[in-house]
Amino acid sequence: MAADAYVLGTEPPERERLRLQHEVWLPLAQAAWERAQLAPGQRVLDLGAGPGFCSVELARAVGAKGRVLALEHSDTYVDHARAAAAAANLAQLEVRRHDLAGDGPFDWGREAGSFDLAWSRWLAMFLPRLEPFLALVGEGLRPGGRFVAHEYMHWDTFALHPYGEAVDRFGRAVRASFREAGGDEDVNRRLPALLVSRGFRIDDLRPLPVLGRGGDGWSQWMERFVSLYGEELIRQGRWSEADAEEAVAEMAAARSDPGSYWVGPTVLELRATRVGT
Ligand SMILES: C[S@@+](CC[C@H](N)C(=O)[O-])C[C@H]1O[C@@H](n2cnc3c(N)ncnc32)[C@H](O)[C@@H]1O
Repeated sequence: MAADAYVLGTEPPERERLRLQHEVWLPLAQAAWERAQLAPGQRVLDLGAGPGFCSVELARAVGAKGRVLALEHSDTYVDHARAAAAAANLAQLEVRRHDLAGDGPFDWGREAGSFDLAWSRWLAMFLPRLEPFLALVGEGLRPGGRFVAHEYMHWDTFALHPYGEAVDRFGRAVRASFREAGGDEDVNRRLPALLVSRGFRIDDLRPLPVLGRGGDGWSQWMERFVSLYGEELIRQGRWSEADAEEAVAEMAAARSDPGSYWVGPTVLELRATRVGT
């Protein structure tokens, strides 16, 4: 895979979308980290870190005596995450380029089996192969270390109710495009069983439904995705200018209609422990 082959791209509008997405999802991520007993001084892996939004938060949470190792495939995002670490003066955050779906071995140095927590969010859904990623999680965590993932388990809940017909067509086109790129948007249907087969214990499975109304943060997150990824779907021939115009009208109507609401694709929070010695 080319270094910037992330299906949603790394251009400024996508980075801005990721930032907005991070803002609305951060409290849920922090609650998940708390459930996984994240604490100062710990060692954390952030896998598929993007421009480093979670990496920075994790580095603040573990403090100067802790360590965060962020792995990311895109050179552009690696540069952004490094710049964010430097700007926030977080020497405990290291960002490295690595393809989590590739066969290349990861150079752990002396750090194999030393991490307390591995975190990933909206990464596994883009991986054409999950084995290298799961193997790396198993290699990195110490016995008793935890893996926490926020990945979708039911993309089909994505909708603008009650009248978002163009948005509904958009959702179906998105799913098809993710699949064609080798991903699985509902990957968290499979991750728990795959972890069990690798000797992990599943500690918690928790759906995280989200609902947006009246132009709130959740609505903006979903609107932004329709606008931005709609352009890519038009390029792919799965969606048309007319579809996009119809969706814009539906979204504008929904913003001022107190009876209308968005439902996000359902994320499953997965928390597992690496057992053994
Ligand atoms: C939707 S973004 C999520 C970024 C970050 N986890 C967050 O929640 O803000 C998906 C990220 O996964 C990265 N990614 C996709 N395939 C990858 C691979 N094979 N190895 C490493 N990173 C990958 C992309 O480059 C992108 O930064």
